[in-house]
Amino acid sequence: MEKTFLMVKPDGVQRNVIGEIVARFEKKGYNLAGAKLMQISTELAEEHYGEHKERPFFGELVEFITSGPVFAMVWEGENVILTARQMMGATNPKDAAPGTIRGDFAVTVGKNMIHGSDSAESAEREIGLFFKEEELVSYEKTM
Ligand code: CMP
Repeated sequence: MEKTFLMVKPDGVQRNVIGEIVARFEKKGYNLAGAKLMQISTELAEEHYGEHKERPFFGELVEFITSGPVFAMVWEGENVILTARQMMGATNPKDAAPGTIRGDFAVTVGKNMIHGSDSAESAEREIGLFFKEEELVSYEKTM
């Protein structure tokens, strides 16, 4: 089954919306396969966001994502990578539709509440960066 990496950023943790964000993915019907509240090191942040290294906002991005705890998650389900991106809304909250996470909770592109893998390759890479295999579980819903 497809898996994706999602992360409530420091702004989401500080604004007490971890539960609300988790609830959206639970209600949608996806399975939570792993989760942890963690402080990201500068090294992990630079590796995670490596594709943005040359962008002018890279320093700001690394500084923000390491500024406080994040809630890292792995979610599992059919088409979860693309659907989670749709549920998150556009990267820039000004373009994110109401009803999406960024459309409902965020204002600026830097502090946009949540990160989600954009492809199967990114999901595999990002899950591997943040989680050990033994931290993930896979299960069927039985009740
Ligand atoms: P995310 O999905 O975590 O992936 C890269 C992040 O870079 C993106 O969300 C935004 O939060 C951030 N980002 C993109 N453009 C800018 C920008 N112009 N200034 C600051 N941060 C940005």
